[in-house]
Amino acid sequence: MIRMEEAHIDGTVIREAGRILREGGLVAFPTETVYGLGGDALNPQSSRKIYAAKGRPSDNPLIIHIADLDALGLIVREIPECAVRLAERFWPGPLTMILHKSERVPYETTGGLDTVAVRMPVNRTARELIRAAGGYVAAPSANRSGRPSPTAARYVAEDLAGRVEMIIDGGDAPIGLESTIVDLTSDRPTVLRPGYITRQQLEEVLSQVEEDSTLMRDDSGQAPKAPGMKYRHYAPKGDLTIVRGTQEAVTAYINARCQELKEKNKKTGVIGSGAVSGKYHADVCKSVGERGDEEAAARELYRILREFDDECVEVIYAEAFAESGVGRAVMNRLLKAAGYRVEEV
Ligand code: TXA
Ligand code: MG
Repeated sequence: MIRMEEAHIDGTVIREAGRILREGGLVAFPTETVYGLGGDALNPQSSRKIYAAKGRPSDNPLIIHIADLDALGLIVREIPECAVRLAERFWPGPLTMILHKSERVPYETTGGLDTVAVRMPVNRTARELIRAAGGYVAAPSANRSGRPSPTAARYVAEDLAGRVEMIIDGGDAPIGLESTIVDLTSDRPTVLRPGYITRQQLEEVLSQVEEDSTLMRDDSGQAPKAPGMKYRHYAPKGDLTIVRGTQEAVTAYINARCQELKEKNKKTGVIGSGAVSGKYHADVCKSVGERGDEEAAARELYRILREFDDECVEVIYAEAFAESGVGRAVMNRLLKAAGYRVEEV
């Protein structure tokens, strides 16, 4: 594990990390969204290694990370005009585009699909690493399958120590949730995973953007378009329920449940905003930040879910958060973590 600030890139470390990737090894690295588990995207062996290290099903495709727009042409069949416009506006940044793949991209990287996910991260360490690796780094989030995505290097080490050649520690991820994914291969541009870049922002560039119908409700009958969204990614060890209603009703409901559970010797937890510990009578209370600050909630959510696991909390209640801005992505991840269990009070 090597510490490196974005503002002080160490060329020697980057060259060494690039060599590892070019020789088929794995390097975990920081991005603005979450940490990535990198391998050479054009080397099928590297993609197999990524799946093995994560314990991830190999039908769940990887995102190829590039550092320069010039790199895009080699891995896609064509670059549609809408992709150029989105790239101009949002790259480098937390946006992943799905395009038709070229023959250069192995099916091991795309989970057997003829389409490929591409993103250009803004994090400088990530981009220098991608260049040193030859330009194409496949990188899923650097967690073991089934754990929350890592927002700090210590969580990468927790999940993957001994399974990767190097972890670059670039501090806390400033966004904290994975990139927005937009599919540009169907009739209409469609958001497959909400993120920091919202559908409204995409519509400023593309006029009309759809959203996959499986994102905010349990639509088990319908297959989600991003294969990864079908897996119960973010399930904490404890039983998680989201509670929605006025603040008074939510507090009363959660406190009543926690009282009952305490009598049964169950360890309880609450995820809320603002000053939660004065309000709730749970064993462990955690705040995602000020009420209405969705960006703070995005930054804190995965850390909090991991802490509940570490503290062996058995039953967890979460306040429902506002879905404006990045709040929609926060609620998408929280709903998935809760298996879509929501109490309206
Ligand atoms: O912010 C991010 O995107 C992070 C950082 C490391 O860049 N990466 C990330 O990768 O979240 P991962 O593998 O955890 O999530 C990739 C998602 C999965 O849900 C996968 O199914 C979807 O992207 N995906 C990848 N290729 C796809 C494709 N060709 N068509 C549809 N969905 C695809
Ligand atoms: Mg992931």
